[in-house]
Amino acid sequence: MSVTDRESGTNVHEIADGVYRINTPVALAGAGGFSFNQYLIVDDEPLLFHTGPRKMFALVRQAVASVLPVERLRYIGFSHVEADECGSLNEWLATARQSVPLCGAIAAMVSIDDLADRAPRAVADGELLSLGKHAVRWFDTPHLPHAWECGFLMEERTRTLLCGDLFTQSGSSHPPVTESDILGPSEAFRHQLDYFSHSKNAPAMLERLASTGPKLLACMHGSAWRGDGAALLRALSDMIDD
Ligand SMILES: [Fe+2]
Ligand SMILES: [Fe+2]
Repeated sequence: MSVTDRESGTNVHEIADGVYRINTPVALAGAGGFSFNQYLIVDDEPLLFHTGPRKMFALVRQAVASVLPVERLRYIGFSHVEADECGSLNEWLATARQSVPLCGAIAAMVSIDDLADRAPRAVADGELLSLGKHAVRWFDTPHLPHAWECGFLMEERTRTLLCGDLFTQSGSSHPPVTESDILGPSEAFRHQLDYFSHSKNAPAMLERLASTGPKLLACMHGSAWRGDGAALLRALSDMIDD
């Protein structure tokens, strides 16, 4: 692992072949620690999944630059429209002149066609996009865990599910990848601050994600998790069903 900014502790770690986790720990006043992750897939057409909050742009840019020239980025992808997912989208579009936003059709129609300085590449539900050696498939997951436009990407070569806010873990100090339980900690956090919208369709959507057979769950907050991703997604489904 390499720390790319000493003061903030921003760090970069390759968690699967060509898939890098960028992590910045933060202290939240009175609420302990938290962390923000972005994932960078290095390939012919490199993809950054999540930009980080706008105020973290310089840190994330520096971290990406430690892996590849930032101008090479082709896609700036995100799960849904919130500051930590896409707050610095326009800064990235200005920095990487050949990049475009990558998002679901609802995000494009409702927000990104207007908010972004360049038109998005909207991906349809189930659509596969080749990046070169890697390929990502988009899954619409409206309101799971939250936001109408929400969706996730599955990287098929490494079987990495970029699962955004699912399995959000509090705390600021986490290993880049763990095989220990993350469901318990993420459920404890959810019980303090329930960020799920509890769509009645959540179990079916989680089952669909499970059926892709992920081996790595690339969480946006906390550690990424290596193991039987299908089993963990089904266990989450059982928990939120209660
Ligand atoms: Fe979110
Ligand atoms: Fe998030």
